Amino acid sequence: MASFSSTVLLFLISLMAASFIAVSAGTLYEAIDIKWGDERAKILNNGQLLTLSLDRTCGSGFQSKNEYLFGKIEMQLKLVPGNSAGTVTAFYLSSPGPTRDEIDFEFLGNLSGDPYTVHTNVYTQGKGEREQQFHLWFDPTADFHTYSFTWNPKHIIFSVDDTPIREFKNLESIGVQYPKNQAMSLYSSLWDAEDWATRGGLVKTDWSQAPFTASYRNFNANGCIWSAGKSSCSSVSSSLILADNSWLAPELDARSQEKLMWVQRNYMIYNYCTDTKRFPGGFPAECQATSNS
Ligand SMILES: *[C@@H]1O[C@H](CO)[C@@H](O)[C@H](O)[C@H]1NC(C)=O
Repeated sequence: MASFSSTVLLFLISLMAASFIAVSAGTLYEAIDIKWGDERAKILNNGQLLTLSLDRTCGSGFQSKNEYLFGKIEMQLKLVPGNSAGTVTAFYLSSPGPTRDEIDFEFLGNLSGDPYTVHTNVYTQGKGEREQQFHLWFDPTADFHTYSFTWNPKHIIFSVDDTPIREFKNLESIGVQYPKNQAMSLYSSLWDAEDWATRGGLVKTDWSQAPFTASYRNFNANGCIWSAGKSSCSSVSSSLILADNSWLAPELDARSQEKLMWVQRNYMIYNYCTDTKRFPGGFPAECQATSNS
């Protein structure tokens, strides 16, 4: 606890020092690199809109220019409309390499009118197997909605329009690894995964609907940029540090906690922490801590 408080204090001091050079994320040209898919990925409208598309040959993807070590990173997404079965829009933070840390949203498309599945996972040192899945309380293809990762030394929160849907706490005290040493970039990709995403290939991707397109706007990152091997927030020197430091809060407030419980009661469709078939020998340690389960 003491060491956490002093870490946070250091962050706060360095963030306050940096807050005068606060600027917004600017255009997507400045924040994002298109990584693959050639002309299937496009930045449009003077850098205010990005689209990824998928056709029978190939999908597409992008990556943030910066790497982050803690922060709140968010973007607005409008998912593939219509019959999107078999498509997966992945939106995630990841460090490089086989012992990577990774925090995932994956949006699994569906037949027209049937709900998307929001698949989430947390990898630490290359090990995941911490899936939770949700349905949404709105149609994610009708308009843009904000999907965010809040990542600080104390917990990770997945949010949809500022409603937290999942919290992964730092439980190193009971031997659960926590992502805190590897900087991560934001990635997104649109790809075809009909074997995985449609209940074992039950529903095929309808290629007559291709190209499938997902849209993105309003990238925002409040946090700590990792640059040239420098490991602390005090090394942040220029953009992307906003005055809003609320992402550093070590716990959800009462209202957010209520919203999280509302989502988990009404919209959670899979939780590894209750899957007894999968873990006959006992659940992973973090499942014993209530807020992860
Ligand atoms: C598609 O919708 C059906 C019917 O509601 C649901 O059972 C299934 O889990 C959904 N599939 C995906 C991939 O979201």
